[in-house]
Amino acid sequence: MKRLTINQYGASSVMDLVEVDRPIPKAGEVLIEMHYSSVNPIDFKLRNGELKFYSGFHFPMTFGFDVTGRVVAKGKGANRFEIGDMIIALSNKKRGEAHAEYCTLDENVCVMAPEGISHEALGCLPLAGLTAYQGLVSRSQVKKGDRVLINGATGGVGHYACQIASYFDARVSAVCSYKNAEEAKRFGATTVYSYDKGENGLLKDYDIIFDVASNLKVKDAIRYLKPGGHYVATLPAIDLFLYMAVGLLRNRNIHFLIVKSIREDLQKLSRIVEDAGISTTVSKSFQLKDIKSAYDFCESGSPVGKVSLKLI
Ligand SMILES: NC(=O)c1ccc[n+]([C@@H]2O[C@H](COP(=O)([O-])OP(=O)(O)OC[C@H]3O[C@@H](n4cnc5c(N)ncnc54)[C@H](OP(=O)(O)O)[C@@H]3O)[C@@H](O)[C@H]2O)c1
Repeated sequence: MKRLTINQYGASSVMDLVEVDRPIPKAGEVLIEMHYSSVNPIDFKLRNGELKFYSGFHFPMTFGFDVTGRVVAKGKGANRFEIGDMIIALSNKKRGEAHAEYCTLDENVCVMAPEGISHEALGCLPLAGLTAYQGLVSRSQVKKGDRVLINGATGGVGHYACQIASYFDARVSAVCSYKNAEEAKRFGATTVYSYDKGENGLLKDYDIIFDVASNLKVKDAIRYLKPGGHYVATLPAIDLFLYMAVGLLRNRNIHFLIVKSIREDLQKLSRIVEDAGISTTVSKSFQLKDIKSAYDFCESGSPVGKVSLKLI
């Protein structure tokens, strides 16, 4: 089988598709024939070595977190799924390992693929969708009537976040580039601000500020949160950690979110996606043989929605 492999950190030129043996599922794991995945910013950041303090120095290394595919073998004691079941998952392996024709995964992080949604869309959902879900629901308990600002509203995470907040009947304001304003409205935003026109949406009080782009100054954001409100960032910053304590004193909740592969969350997210008809916008689709171009496309800017990867 083919698997994305690197033997050193660097640009897409260090990426290779290497022929390796199919992995054998360990106890409690399933072997998945991979149908679709997607490329997320974490993948090219890992490959570039931006996160080497986390990813380490053991090569060869492989990446990919979004898993959609068919169970083709089971390790000892794995009994949640039958051979042939279509499942989806956010890989809980350190660097993912899903950008391959087959991968193994703990069966406890997998859920049955919801019916009636294309496998390509499902391949895009786990990492970005769970980030949106955990930011808005698990951390911020979004509810009807909440005023929500989503900064970075048309990318992978943002386009799910706008739709999930709208599903909960929140009033959504979005920040994205001017050219993508209509897309943000399509995802459910009623007010759109354009960062390339100098707008950041910090004009009124919010229940939730979901800073997906993570470039707002926490000191500014906190002034536009209602008492009890939530500010959620997806990237670490020194001021974020400083203001966590300040926020508590002022009855504002400041969160640094690291998405977690939680089976129950993925199950609930799948139900919301089915109920609400939440759609995945695929900016561009690639095949495994073109994986370098897929990473380059993801890294080159801000595709609207997701960059999809077809594996088998
Ligand atoms: N901590 C975690 O667990 C976690 C999980 C998922 C993602 N992340 C991080 O979250 C970030 C977003 O991920 P993603 O998958 O959504 O990326 P993405 O698909 O590349 O989307 C980026 C978004 O940011 C917007 N943007 C670009 N420059 C901006 C600016 N100056 N102000 C406001 N918005 C701006 C883009 O809008 P336009 O397209 O209109 O330019 C786009 O909507 C990445 O840095 C990623 O690594 C972290």
